[in-house]
Amino acid sequence: LRVLERLEDLRRWRAGAAEPLGFVPTMGYLHEGHLALIDRARAECATVVVSIFVNPLQVGPGEDFDRYPRDRQRDLEHCRQHQVDAVWLPQASEMYPPGFSTFVEVRGLDERLCGRFRPGHFRGVATVVAKLFHQVQPQRAYFGEKDYQQLLIIRRMVRDLDMPIDIVACPTVREPDGLARSSRNAYLTPEERRHAARLPAALRHGLQLIEEGERDPRRVVAAVEGELAAQVGWQPQYVEILDAHELTPLDRLRGEVVLAAAVYVGQTRLIDNVRIVVP
Ligand code: PAF
Repeated sequence: LRVLERLEDLRRWRAGAAEPLGFVPTMGYLHEGHLALIDRARAECATVVVSIFVNPLQVGPGEDFDRYPRDRQRDLEHCRQHQVDAVWLPQASEMYPPGFSTFVEVRGLDERLCGRFRPGHFRGVATVVAKLFHQVQPQRAYFGEKDYQQLLIIRRMVRDLDMPIDIVACPTVREPDGLARSSRNAYLTPEERRHAARLPAALRHGLQLIEEGERDPRRVVAAVEGELAAQVGWQPQYVEILDAHELTPLDRLRGEVVLAAAVYVGQTRLIDNVRIVVP
């Protein structure tokens, strides 16, 4: 496992790396969800690179940049065990040198869901991912469907800016009780953790209504909100059901739709989503 901490070293190493090169960008504190992305890249690519960088540009004021969980030794051990070839650990000073002033903004797709509540977040994500893509120069890059809006935004950016990279979407990895794996689950108290699977359960309830024939998006959203509100202390930040490709609202459900929600469980913000093709 090569551990690369300077752009110069990455570039030198990259010049000799076998292709196709598969890339898994992360903010560290790796969990089963990340490892599934790594394993998929390992199965499909000659070289696998993982980056670990807690990106200050995508974390808003009052969010969790300082307390975001970090454990470099554990992350490197996971990478070793999963046959990663190189880990790219950019320094914030090299990523954002003084006077840094170039940003990537993917308009439209960032207007709903998390974009409404985290101003600047997706600009930060698109900017750092564009930089990481230029640095690592992968042929394929792997993203989890849990961050569904992020996945669509990266896909659009790659298309719009002619980046020759296949974006590979991987299914959300869940705990046995259904909770989506996330580094932020580490914030949950044991009591909160016991209730957290109510989020995916509420989304599944929404899916079930659609499967039973419900086509009015407002009724599906109301049913999911009702399920979430039944849990004491839960504040759904949003529950939305949108066209799964354009993230636009629908009067009646048809085609592929995404049902997504964000909730605060205590201090911890959890997101999740499910998709369904409505005939
Ligand atoms: O999904 C994440 O962990 C981050 O948003 C990403 C893609 C690594 C960019 O910082």
